[in-house]
Amino acid sequence: MPEFAQIKSVYSPKHTLSEVEILRAIKFAIASEFEAIQIYQQIMESTTNKSVHNVLDEIIEDEKKHAGGLYKLLEILCPEDEKIYQEGVRETLENIER
Ligand SMILES: [Fe+2]
Repeated sequence: MPEFAQIKSVYSPKHTLSEVEILRAIKFAIASEFEAIQIYQQIMESTTNKSVHNVLDEIIEDEKKHAGGLYKLLEILCPEDEKIYQEGVRETLENIER
């Protein structure tokens, strides 16, 4: 079983990932993109250094694109889950409109 639970893991699977393992890895990668965004934002909020802000601003935009790309990939690879996610979107919109 591949190890995706630890971001610092250097373990590489010696086999081709199953479809279930790929989905787990992509979900973990999406979570990691959001974690990275949070870390960069915290760094930015901790300094007034303009160079840091300029660089991290750009990186945050890239990480958001990565998260979106990975999410789209997940949507394509697992349309069954996408239906459930969209159900959550619908419920949220209904709650907002109440
Ligand atoms: Fe990324």
